[in-house]
Amino acid sequence: MKRALFLSDNEFINDLYTVNLSTYVDTDLEIETDPHKIEERILTGSFDLLVTLSMIGEIDAGKSLIEISQKKNLPLIIIGEKSEVSNTPDVVTIPGNLNIQFFLRSAAKLLGVTAQDMANKEVGEYYPMALKVLIGLTEAPCDVFYKISKPGQKEEFSLVWSKGQPIDKKFDKFKDLKIFSLFIPSSERLSITNLVTTKISQKVKDKNLSQGDRLEAVESGFELMAQSLFSTEEIAEEVLEISNQCVEAIGEVLEVDSTLGELLQSMLNNKSRFIYMHSVLTTYVCHYLLKKIAWGSKEHIEKVSYVLFFHDMFLVPVYNDHADIKYEEDLIFSPDLNDAEKDIIINHAKEAGNALKSLPKCPLGVDTITTQHHGATNGIGFAMDPGDDVSPLAKVILIGEAFVDEFLKARDEGLEPNCKKIVSDLLERYTNKSYQKMSKHLETIKL
Ligand SMILES: [Fe+2]
Ligand SMILES: [Fe+2]
Repeated sequence: MKRALFLSDNEFINDLYTVNLSTYVDTDLEIETDPHKIEERILTGSFDLLVTLSMIGEIDAGKSLIEISQKKNLPLIIIGEKSEVSNTPDVVTIPGNLNIQFFLRSAAKLLGVTAQDMANKEVGEYYPMALKVLIGLTEAPCDVFYKISKPGQKEEFSLVWSKGQPIDKKFDKFKDLKIFSLFIPSSERLSITNLVTTKISQKVKDKNLSQGDRLEAVESGFELMAQSLFSTEEIAEEVLEISNQCVEAIGEVLEVDSTLGELLQSMLNNKSRFIYMHSVLTTYVCHYLLKKIAWGSKEHIEKVSYVLFFHDMFLVPVYNDHADIKYEEDLIFSPDLNDAEKDIIINHAKEAGNALKSLPKCPLGVDTITTQHHGATNGIGFAMDPGDDVSPLAKVILIGEAFVDEFLKARDEGLEPNCKKIVSDLLERYTNKSYQKMSKHLETIKL
């Protein structure tokens, strides 16, 4: 069995990861809660993988582990994006949420454990289950055994609780005796792991828990939101990948242009807000669209991504001051905005186009597309029913954004978004043929 060491002070995640890693990746996860003791544990133990929360309290746990992980040649997974080294090439960064699949997949890959290995793995009749996994369960989810091993004799398993029996005082007895593992029938291990995972997840979402106990305390944000928005994990993962690209592209600009830095940094700091969210989602939708359109190419995909990561950067201060407003079109009609703010909104496409012109790595033509992203060739205002005078990629973005707005509005109302219905709304709004043709491709998109 491989061994991993996890620097984490969050009990929920500890339990969740321990049980899942053992079942699905055949790896024993040891926990260290104290960042000051981690180095010694690494040096004295033999581990195959290091895992850490991005932050433990005020300490940047990811950063504190990077050096030793490189020295010992151990791969490092960082959970959450708050560490200075999150999302850098030296580590694997995964979202700080309950999506256990991201974690398992990354761990399996780094440990070289394949699905085939897991399928071929010989398991005995009984399978170890950490005692603490039973915390919070009132009754035994299946038969639970205790292993009696006497020197020179065959191991024996004696029944502690049979399925459905209340988990009684014996639990504390095991704890006092420092017996940390009990056993369950191997045939039940997958279903029990899933059951326990669900229970822990429910516990974390319990509003009555103190802030420190809730997973939100570890890290909430874009990923958590992305996870609840989409129908499948694959889509959430793809969107997350786009988000990483967005962070990277913005990072490059931060290095060379300090005047835009503040705007962009402020956008990155609030990833669950509409402005970031809609940029990343629209990128996903436009990628789909460009794959469907006959003339769409990889180069177009790159350009569109670039435009979308930056297209609304000048709106950031307005959004910061008016957190209750979401959609761009609502901004123009809002009575809460003063004249200076309205001015920013009217001109934000033009300003973003101008700013991109001066950036060194900016792909050819993205400044013009950015200027035209609301359908006006001069970048001033919002065209209600735009025509053929804007570039084809600006049309793609316009349709993509309109689609995402409708998708998010449906979610706001607690509805299951219906792509066919959204497209029929778009067909009504955009009367130009080329826009309509594009819109129709989105009937089949999966979100
Ligand atoms: Fe936008
Ligand atoms: Fe915009």
